Amino acid sequence: MGKGVLSDSAIEFPLFADAGLERVQGSLALGGVRLSEIAEAAGTPVYVYNAEAIRAQYHALDHALSALPHRICYAVKANSTLAVLRIIRDLGAGADIVSAGEMARALAAGFPAGRIVFSGVGKTAEELRAAVRAGLGHLNVESFEELELLARIADEERRPVSVGIRVNPDVTTVTHPYISTGKSGIKFGVPSDQVIAAAELIARHPRLELTTLAMHLGSQLVDTEPFREGIRRLLELIVRIRAAGIATIRVIDIGGGLGIRYGEDASMDPTEFAAAVTPLLSPTGLTVYLEPGRFLVGSAGVLLTRVLYRKLSGGKQFVVVDAGMNDLVRPSHYHAYHEIVELETRGRPAHRVDVVGPVCETGDFLALDRLLPGLDAGDDLAVLGAGAYGFVMASNYNSRPRPAEAVVDGGRWWIARPRETVEELFGSERMSP
Ligand code: LLP
Repeated sequence: MGKGVLSDSAIEFPLFADAGLERVQGSLALGGVRLSEIAEAAGTPVYVYNAEAIRAQYHALDHALSALPHRICYAVKANSTLAVLRIIRDLGAGADIVSAGEMARALAAGFPAGRIVFSGVGKTAEELRAAVRAGLGHLNVESFEELELLARIADEERRPVSVGIRVNPDVTTVTHPYISTGKSGIKFGVPSDQVIAAAELIARHPRLELTTLAMHLGSQLVDTEPFREGIRRLLELIVRIRAAGIATIRVIDIGGGLGIRYGEDASMDPTEFAAAVTPLLSPTGLTVYLEPGRFLVGSAGVLLTRVLYRKLSGGKQFVVVDAGMNDLVRPSHYHAYHEIVELETRGRPAHRVDVVGPVCETGDFLALDRLLPGLDAGDDLAVLGAGAYGFVMASNYNSRPRPAEAVVDGGRWWIARPRETVEELFGSERMSP
């Protein structure tokens, strides 16, 4: 990945290769562009995404699954910036959305409505109606009440609707508890013992067609066994649904969750993933839908941030940077590990430091007790693996405008979204009636 000609040094981490990162005479480059150039021109903090790295991940997964009829529906929630959506749309992918906002973005980026899947546990009536009117590929319902509402809306709109049932297959996964979604006792999906009744309700309704059984087990999964277990449970349900005389299911949607490498940890290898699931899925003749988010965009993105100050306190060294938990919440929220490297190496001795942001919370950090080269105010850093659940989870806490976003592609770069301005933050507010 990236521009091989520019590479003149050893890869520092396997992570670098996943992202298309290289060291060129001490300068960090992404997709052939020196990141210092972007930090200077765009200011910091700024997210930068490598289009080629996104494409490479898509092709690796698509190729691995080539023995199966399949569609990769990108989980828009991971990174919904239009430029990123357009890169993925141009690869022929579908989209997995969870709100009317994401639907509008996916349509604006040019995804055909028929390739969009609507997931989510709490879709409003307005969102369901908008989806029915847009003629989306299918809607994954998660409760009887949602199903009844969807049936009423299909009648009012006099439109046929393709429906999937998102099953809660009660499969255990090893990941952060906040992002484990396929276990009984959490809010997601229709419990297995209610699925036949839901299927019958759909089959009885003249405008609804049950085309899909779906699951999503969780995020950042690196083990294939939960996928196999979940698929087995969905296939058992499909047999029972067919035995009940309902023969309309054509798609099995096995969700997203393919994990990536953030540090020394493992990632989900697409070839191993495909080798694990293909024997179960291939004999069924069903079209397989996947909803990867992080896998496609996570490694492809970095967050650039500048050192503001250094300080010593309580025997600890702090590096205060200009990106905070409002810009990248994953370290604070999940204690997630993100590799941090200098944009320009200067060969300085390493120190153990806490890298903290400007936000007024003790939990505002990007890294704790991390061995980093000696840093000075004005030095720029790259936080790696920030392409997924980075900007999309950014907030305006402390009235901080959200960062700019840039894309590099083919050795060039452009601003995909300008930095938010302070005026944009409160321009629409009213101080009195
Ligand atoms: N499909 C559904 C129905 C989902 O709920 C999700 C993620 C995905 C697909 C995509 O999962 P992925 O392939 O990206 O793992 N903010 C958290 C991750 C939350 C994931 C929520 N659902 C984080 O920063 O780790």
